[in-house]
Amino acid sequence: MTAHVDSKQLAAALQISEAAAQQLINGDLTALTGQSSAIPVAQGNIFLQKHNVTLYHADFLTSQALADESVDLIVTSPPYNVGIEYSTHDDAHTYEAYLTFSERWLRQAYRLSRPDGRLCMNIPLDKNKGGQQSVCADVTSIAKKVGWKYHATIIWNEGNISRRTAWGSWMSASAPFVIAPVEVIVVMYKERWKKARRPKAVSDITRQEFMEWTNGVWAFSGESKRRVGHPAPFPRELPRRCIKLFSFVGETVLDPFVGSGTTLLEAYENNRVGIGFEIALEYCQLARKRLEALWRQRKLI
Ligand SMILES: C[S@@+](CC[C@H](N)C(=O)[O-])C[C@H]1O[C@@H](n2cnc3c(N)ncnc32)[C@H](O)[C@@H]1O
Repeated sequence: MTAHVDSKQLAAALQISEAAAQQLINGDLTALTGQSSAIPVAQGNIFLQKHNVTLYHADFLTSQALADESVDLIVTSPPYNVGIEYSTHDDAHTYEAYLTFSERWLRQAYRLSRPDGRLCMNIPLDKNKGGQQSVCADVTSIAKKVGWKYHATIIWNEGNISRRTAWGSWMSASAPFVIAPVEVIVVMYKERWKKARRPKAVSDITRQEFMEWTNGVWAFSGESKRRVGHPAPFPRELPRRCIKLFSFVGETVLDPFVGSGTTLLEAYENNRVGIGFEIALEYCQLARKRLEALWRQRKLI
């Protein structure tokens, strides 16, 4: 992987030896992490496995493909309307189903996380269609019940004012609607926030990025559904920031709900091992198309 940089450049950027940079370029990410990047897997349902990226065409909730405690960082945006995704039907019953679904995937994610593993969960702050609900508060509570520990909530201001369509009672105190045009990224961890010592751990975040991104209000645009060809993609900037801020080079990044493959693109681009799950075949194909376009640019295929 990373044939697009030479070992000298990479060594200088990451402040590592040229030999380690060459190992990285050759795709041997273990040189830096000192831990196995080759997660023991059941071979079934592998849709794609190349350049340190593995995509499973499988249901994340029931998959036994990955070993316990094998993932360093999870970056994901779970589906909203479970079972009937993107349907307009959205009543109290489906909110209950959503919370049950949240508990199930959070439990599975917890099993896979290393003791110092982290979770970045992109979810709505709240919702007001079909009944107001405190989505972020509810899912965070469920995550804590499962065992995840709370670190922070990043507010993502995507500058989407088109969400402000429902006013409730216009210019009247009768029943006005308030809606924050933001989403959140809830940051949690399994057992301890400080990462276990890894003798060769390398961070690739710049001074500027670190200063900017540790301020928990992020502002960048959302992704176009039409351009990507998926109903709910997040922009590449979102996993890029989470990956560089919360994981070392060479570590294993998982997205249980891959969609169009955005997290995998950024895991690859930032020299992490990328693992993803996607239940819909058409989105597996879309993710593969995007990854292959990137690898073609890098002259890897
Ligand atoms: C909000 S989208 C993720 C979008 C992604 N972040 C991107 O940038 O394209 C959620 C995805 O989860 C998938 N999904 C839903 N249930 C799933 C399950 N049980 N296991 C794996 N994938 C699932 C859906 O098909 C959908 O593509």
